[in-house]
Amino acid sequence: MNTKDKESGSTDAPAASDAVALLKADHRAVEKLFDAFEKAADGDLDAKGTLARRACEELTVHAIIEEELLYPAAHRALEKQDEIDVDEAYVEHYLVKTLIEKFDSLRPGDDGFDATFKVMSELVKHHVEEEESELFPELRESGVDLVALGVKLAARKNELIKKLDAAGSKLVGDRSLSFTRAA
Ligand SMILES: [Fe+2]
Ligand SMILES: [Fe+2]
Repeated sequence: MNTKDKESGSTDAPAASDAVALLKADHRAVEKLFDAFEKAADGDLDAKGTLARRACEELTVHAIIEEELLYPAAHRALEKQDEIDVDEAYVEHYLVKTLIEKFDSLRPGDDGFDATFKVMSELVKHHVEEEESELFPELRESGVDLVALGVKLAARKNELIKKLDAAGSKLVGDRSLSFTRAA
């Protein structure tokens, strides 16, 4: 690899120059799906089904990479008093994953489908707001190598997306609640 290649880095993941940028881009992508769901006509069950499935997939991959890589790194890097933010994030993920699981049996048009999606999107928006206003700035201040972490996150994300394709869009993430400290 020549110097120029090194400097330009991987071009596979645009707008993801570090871990925070990559995760924020994921947040924006899922918010777009939430907006599209809200705008979908009541009777457009195909659109609602597709949007809900894509949102669940994106959220599952996002939750896995955060729980496997970001949160353990945050636990190691943050001051004791800020670690509560990481544990809260695990609990919020658990709630979101519990609702994602409901979509295994809920079909668009079923009673509760729209309500479950709405509550899930509200939970995610709250969680995203906390990550972006508290956890991410704390991580940035901690001096952790966010570029190196971003490379790991992007690699794991690509791996999971491939698995997702192979599984025909059905990737079962870890839907448990844990407070993993080790990377
Ligand atoms: Fe998260
Ligand atoms: Fe996140």
